[in-house]
Amino acid sequence: MLRRIFVHEMQSNANLDAFYAIRRNQVKKSIKDVYGKNGTTIDVRMLAYSTVINMMTSMFWGGTLEGDIGANINAQFRDAVSELLIIWGKPNISDFFPFLASFDIQGIQGDMKRASRWMEKIFDFVIDPRTKNNTNISNNDFLDFLLEFKDHETGKSLSRPQIKALSCGVVSPFNYVLSSLLYYMSPPWQNLSPLLVIYFVCSIFNGQDIVIGGTGTTSTSFEWTMAELMLHPEVMKKTQEELTKVVGDANVVEEYHFHKLPYLQAVVKETLRLHPSAPLLLPRCPSQTCTLGGYTIPKGAKVFLNAWAMHRDSQLWENPYEFRPERFVGDSNKLDFSGNKFHYIPFGSGRRMCAGLHLGERMLMYTLATFLHMFHWKVPDGEKPDTGEKFGIVLEKSTPLIVLPTPRLNNLKLYH
Ligand code: HEM
Repeated sequence: MLRRIFVHEMQSNANLDAFYAIRRNQVKKSIKDVYGKNGTTIDVRMLAYSTVINMMTSMFWGGTLEGDIGANINAQFRDAVSELLIIWGKPNISDFFPFLASFDIQGIQGDMKRASRWMEKIFDFVIDPRTKNNTNISNNDFLDFLLEFKDHETGKSLSRPQIKALSCGVVSPFNYVLSSLLYYMSPPWQNLSPLLVIYFVCSIFNGQDIVIGGTGTTSTSFEWTMAELMLHPEVMKKTQEELTKVVGDANVVEEYHFHKLPYLQAVVKETLRLHPSAPLLLPRCPSQTCTLGGYTIPKGAKVFLNAWAMHRDSQLWENPYEFRPERFVGDSNKLDFSGNKFHYIPFGSGRRMCAGLHLGERMLMYTLATFLHMFHWKVPDGEKPDTGEKFGIVLEKSTPLIVLPTPRLNNLKLYH
């Protein structure tokens, strides 16, 4: 039910359009920040992460949290998310030897509980004033939507735990079983079976959460795209020329420009082919024993689909290791993010596919188009970006991308 509300109601086109001004404001703030640092290098990962998390928090509860208190809560929230992600990614010995779990030898369970309580408090702090004051002032954010939501059929509202679960997820201690496993399965990914890797584990992502799920994936995809563009100056040139032609030197990018930017869309698709942010997607679990692609999959087994390997399979892709956005331009197979063509599934496929697809796509396209249109990007002299991967729930670049941006448009007022 929560998935349905999030995918179909909160992310309807009308709602996403309604929240556009909020996203736009946050990107404008980041533009101003980058402009202010003119002449100095910036860390693209930090830029992407702070822009995306600011967009997410403003869409969720932005309306009420202004001024110092707002800044403080948003900063605390960012810290809590970062901490949860770190704890989540730690391999835990208790997952391999469950009889040790009650000792919590590495203290991971304790840390996770502490971080979760911290997160809960932040949510209470934000929700309380809205429920207590009982005012009809509309803040126009996701939280308003959730507090006012009534199911069409039953007329029921959402409870507070449901609201929190939907906003930030139930970060169950079991969740990090997955990351621990992934850690031990570390690259080279080629060694994994190209289609299916079966794992008999006792757990699964219980509550992949929206804010955490949405920030790492989107900001990592941003960084990978920038890295590939820095490595392929001819593609960067073509992308910026397209932006100049469609948007114009005297204007800033708007979401309505997207459909006129097929080359940038191809660049994003090609980046997500080579660097899918969730390389093994989320695990599946068949309700009956079945045979698929010659493998017998027992009922209850956890199945990981290796999207990373499928996206680089030479039987499915020509020169799979080459970064070549042209393969998606005028593409006769119409490869999109819907997950219907199984050799291209950066947002997954089927009933568990990314719940934030439309929002994620909009945020990624908007931030990329805006930053590429407004700045020239250069790596500091003598340096070359690499495409090494760091293993984790989200597939990050192993080293942060450090770049030197300079304004690209003549009208400097557009940067304020
Ligand atoms: C470029 C951005 C993003 C990428 C590449 C991405 C990718 C993915 C992938 C591959 C999955 C697993 C799908 C599967 O196993 O079939 C997933 C799940 C999920 N994503 Fe995203 N995602 C992105 C942005 C977002 C955003 C912005 C949100 C929230 C606002 C979000 C929320 C979720 C949730 C809640 C799930 C779990 C769905 C479920 O368990 O039913 N994602 N995402």
